Amino acid sequence: MRRSSLTTACFVAVIAASGSASPAAAQDAAAVKKGQEVYAAQKCSVCHAIGGQGNKANPLDGVGAKISAADMRQWIVDPTAMSAKAKSEKKPPMPNRWAKLPAADLDALVAYMLSLK
Ligand code: HEC
Repeated sequence: MRRSSLTTACFVAVIAASGSASPAAAQDAAAVKKGQEVYAAQKCSVCHAIGGQGNKANPLDGVGAKISAADMRQWIVDPTAMSAKAKSEKKPPMPNRWAKLPAADLDALVAYMLSLK
């Protein structure tokens, strides 16, 4: 008897935990969607491809698994520094054009980039 009520308690705890995770997941999904819009509006695909769409010289597929959130943000706000750090010799280099994006747009763009795994 003791064993079965313990199992039930664990089961309830798992449901409660997954239930509390979903608002955050929904928020992430909203940020990623907004990030896709910013990516399109800023014409990042002139130089980058995602899922084969855009300029295949610089694919971004899998970039979310490759670099940290901090480096992702840095690429967008200070690509000159990041190109040097990453020893990127690609031409044309990524321009310094997005440091003044609204913070919410930047956050969304970073969330989108991090979702590319
Ligand atoms: C004029 C071309 C150009 C544009 C426009 C551009 N980038 Fe880049 N970006 C590059 C180049 C070149 C690199 C370095 C790639 C390399 O060395 O493999 C790079 C690197 C990156 C990286 C790091 C990739 C990695 O594999 O580590 C990210 C993330 C990135 N860009 C995001 C963006 C986003 C988001 C935008 C739009 C706001 C954008 N880029 C617009 C040229 C561009």
